[in-house]
Amino acid sequence: MPVNLRGRNFVTLKDFTTEEIKYMLNLSADLKAKKRAGIKGDLLSGKNVVLIFEKNSTRTRCAFEVACFDEGANVTFLTGSQMGKKETIEDTAKVLGRFYDGIEFRGFAQKTVEELAEHAGVPVWNGLTDLYHPTQILADFLTVTEHVAKPLNKVKFVYAGDARNNMGNSLMIGAAKLGMDFVALAPKELFPEEALVEEMLEVCKTTGGTITLTENVDDVKGADVLYTDVWVSMGEEHMFEERIKQLSPYQVNMDMVKKTENPDVIFMHCLPAFHDNLTGVGAEIEEKFGIKEMEVTDEVFRMPNSVVFDEAENRMHTIKAVMCATMGNL
Ligand code: CP
Ligand code: NVA
Repeated sequence: MPVNLRGRNFVTLKDFTTEEIKYMLNLSADLKAKKRAGIKGDLLSGKNVVLIFEKNSTRTRCAFEVACFDEGANVTFLTGSQMGKKETIEDTAKVLGRFYDGIEFRGFAQKTVEELAEHAGVPVWNGLTDLYHPTQILADFLTVTEHVAKPLNKVKFVYAGDARNNMGNSLMIGAAKLGMDFVALAPKELFPEEALVEEMLEVCKTTGGTITLTENVDDVKGADVLYTDVWVSMGEEHMFEERIKQLSPYQVNMDMVKKTENPDVIFMHCLPAFHDNLTGVGAEIEEKFGIKEMEVTDEVFRMPNSVVFDEAENRMHTIKAVMCATMGNL
């Protein structure tokens, strides 16, 4: 069966088959090559896209905007809307669905993006919620295909840190769907929810993937990818003290890199990253807790095998693929 994603929402990777995810990754690689060749596209021409952000963003917002510009769509970055204040999500979805051909939402509740998807009548894309960050996973896996000389279903992918946040959840879902060996390295209290793990273990039965939840740093041995994310996600800013205590043993540093015993292991991070004290929050953390780095050391962040900026670039190519596949003139 050829893959056809026209009209589909993109609110969680759970809704997509292995073939559909691979299709989006292949399309992303094609669109990346097309851009590199300087070919201006029209796959989104005549389309209008609206972007709604309840939380801050650099990469995701810019990825959507540049992808639209490259392929001929018009974009509205919506601020100060009535949504959730004077107007329900349902009514807002019905209104925006009359104006626009696609809607991106980043915010707190997964329920909001799902409600938008239910009522808009046009594709709705999840640009990050408390629970999931599915567009990030496509960029991450495209980056793995570019830097790890193995098929995805042979890759050992270690995620160290807050394994029950949007990144931990979404990476585990994506890894299960693609048959990877996924390791969540975290203290027990930050393991992903049992129900989601069970659901993904079922998926692994058909894809050949594995899921390991571990508190033991030695389990990074043989990793092809070491991945981490911020210890405190957007909306949880009151948690710094607790998370620093819980996650310090899981910082990605040179000791951890060495423990992989793989000279080709790559370092990945969805960004933004606290690898120094040169940001407002970084400086505040240093003043309060006396640490200059959090989830990753500056040394690892800057090492030759760190692919974080390729990964960031790939946000744009993969988000473009999601829009082209679900809304475009393909
Ligand atoms: N990785 C990511 O989603 O980055 P932004 O928060 O800058 O969009
Ligand atoms: N877990 C992070 C991801 C940022 C891209 C957050 O939600 O803040």
